[in-house]
Amino acid sequence: MVDVLHTRKELAAAREGLTGTVGVVMTMGALHTGHETLLRAARERADHVLVTIFVNPLQFGPNEDFDRYPRTLDSDLEICRRAGADLVFAPSVAEMYPEGQPTVRLNPGPLGEDLEGLSRPGFFHGVLTVVLKLLQLTRPDLAFFGEKDYQQLTLVRRMVRDLDVPTEIVGVPTVREPDGLALSSRNRYLSADERRAALSLSAALRAGVAAAERGDDAGAVLAAAHRAFDPGTPDARLDYLVLTDTDLEPGPVSGPARLLIAAWVGATRLIDNTALHLAPRP
Ligand code: PAF
Repeated sequence: MVDVLHTRKELAAAREGLTGTVGVVMTMGALHTGHETLLRAARERADHVLVTIFVNPLQFGPNEDFDRYPRTLDSDLEICRRAGADLVFAPSVAEMYPEGQPTVRLNPGPLGEDLEGLSRPGFFHGVLTVVLKLLQLTRPDLAFFGEKDYQQLTLVRRMVRDLDVPTEIVGVPTVREPDGLALSSRNRYLSADERRAALSLSAALRAGVAAAERGDDAGAVLAAAHRAFDPGTPDARLDYLVLTDTDLEPGPVSGPARLLIAAWVGATRLIDNTALHLAPRP
């Protein structure tokens, strides 16, 4: 059985009763196997696993999919139960923001304006504001975030460090379909043709990894990834494909690196990324 809490008061009372390690997994619902992996990772490390389900309006732009974002609480609760969650906090927007949208929001700094932040102004202000709020409400020892949203994970890590939040942030590897597509709640928007086109993102990443494994330099790795991005439809459009260091600073010349991609497939924006290792320069 999973206990479902809808108010901050109920959450505070339940949290008071928890002794031992508390792990939190924050979600916007529409849970899939990727979330289940986060929950299982939390289950392994924490005595109590708390899941938050909240579609946060602050992180949606005016032309984004807040209204049509999938809301599937019953099946979400089933996944939470199956993966061994103890508590679910599923507040309404009015419960989270009783005075309307907050006028004070977290500033993610320069990294928040780059990559996802370039296409989605204000996105990371909204994400970090709700993440900090949920950290205050749940007071976890550990919080688990997917590497699929690598920029989000990086910014949450930085926020926790910069603001002395006493929570360990744990990154969990991306879960993929057998054909390589990274799991995402937004995949359910894709038609069959779009789903085929979406494979171009993971194909580009694989080509980048293969080039790095051959010992190619950063320029050649990026070029290989670009060549492999071939969605075969004019309805798909590359937004960015970049190679950074593991903290998302530009231009690693050697060593551990991250290759990140974002693309529109029809009306759906997808992101993906991978770790890779660039050979030392001769
Ligand atoms: O990754 C998500 O689902 C959201 O950005 C998060 C972390 C739950 C904040 O709303």
